[in-house]
Amino acid sequence: MKDTVAGAEPATPAALGASRSRESAVEVVDLTRIYGDGLGVKALDGVCLGVRSGEFIAIMGPSGSGKSTLLHLLGALDRPTAGRIAVAGRDLATVRDLDAFRARTVGLVFQLHNLIPTLTALENVEVPMYEGPFAGQARRERARQLLAWVGLAGRLDHRPGQLSGGERQRVAVARALANRPSVILADEPTGSLDSSSGAEVLRLLRDLNRAEGTTVILVTHDPLIALATDRIVTLRDGRVQRDQPVADADRHDLEVFRRSDVGRLIFGEDALTPTPLPAGPDQERQQGVRASPAGRGVGGEGVSRGRTGG
Ligand SMILES: Nc1ncnc2c1ncn2[C@@H]1O[C@H](COP(=O)(O)OP(=O)(O)OP(=O)(O)O)[C@@H](O)[C@H]1O
Ligand SMILES: [Mg+2]
Repeated sequence: MKDTVAGAEPATPAALGASRSRESAVEVVDLTRIYGDGLGVKALDGVCLGVRSGEFIAIMGPSGSGKSTLLHLLGALDRPTAGRIAVAGRDLATVRDLDAFRARTVGLVFQLHNLIPTLTALENVEVPMYEGPFAGQARRERARQLLAWVGLAGRLDHRPGQLSGGERQRVAVARALANRPSVILADEPTGSLDSSSGAEVLRLLRDLNRAEGTTVILVTHDPLIALATDRIVTLRDGRVQRDQPVADADRHDLEVFRRSDVGRLIFGEDALTPTPLPAGPDQERQQGVRASPAGRGVGGEGVSRGRTGG
């Protein structure tokens, strides 16, 4: 592991997360993934998908329809059999240092991407930062800030085995945000959690999307969770079966959901207004409010990459 980014690829503005406007966050063209040779399973079969920067989308579909396969490909954890993928303006076929790409451009919240059991929550959040621009004390300070933001300021030195499932998942969210990725890929992050822990994780992703403009692509089986996003893409047999904005999908169910306990937690007043984000950790300590996941305030660059809010 290294403290600096020496030797890593030069970062593009998009890879730095500098611009989160209307540009394309993800572009997938004719994506096919066949597992095994010849007789294998066609997990994805010509998928086309565009996701704009700042969108919050849900991927749904029956078990085996290709959702995880798609997320793995977007996160450069796997290579397609055919087709093209661009993430944050980079064609993945041309990315040479995939570790650096993964560490800096995408944040992964996967159930199988477990925390390292022998490391504390703080150390787990620091791990991806060894591939990013934050070094030394700045890295530790940022990890603290992120854990405070997910409500775990009091659990910094706990190991995963000493945390609840919901707390572990929140550590995973903090870890995914470590290097300020422009795209978060979350594969059923609420799947193993009870409804209120699941709602809290969803709310963190939603706050992040609203406050920071981070693109979020969330796989879920839960239609109510999907209704909390902006758009639902449904896969079936490795193809896009449906792709609709949530407002058109089912306004009535959404309204019922908004009025439910879980819906109020997600859509409640404070969730509709992005969490006020302090400029840096000093202010955070003074005011006792959550720190920005990106180490900067809304509407300003505050702190650029390579330095932190410390
Ligand atoms: N490594 C692999 N080798 C062979 N086949 C695989 C592999 N991974 C997935 N598959 C197959 O590819 C298809 C798509 O799998 P994928 O994991 O993407 O589905 P999914 O939509 O995420 O399902 P679930 O909702 O159950 O998580 C399935 O038929 C699965 O059996
Ligand atoms: Mg899956």
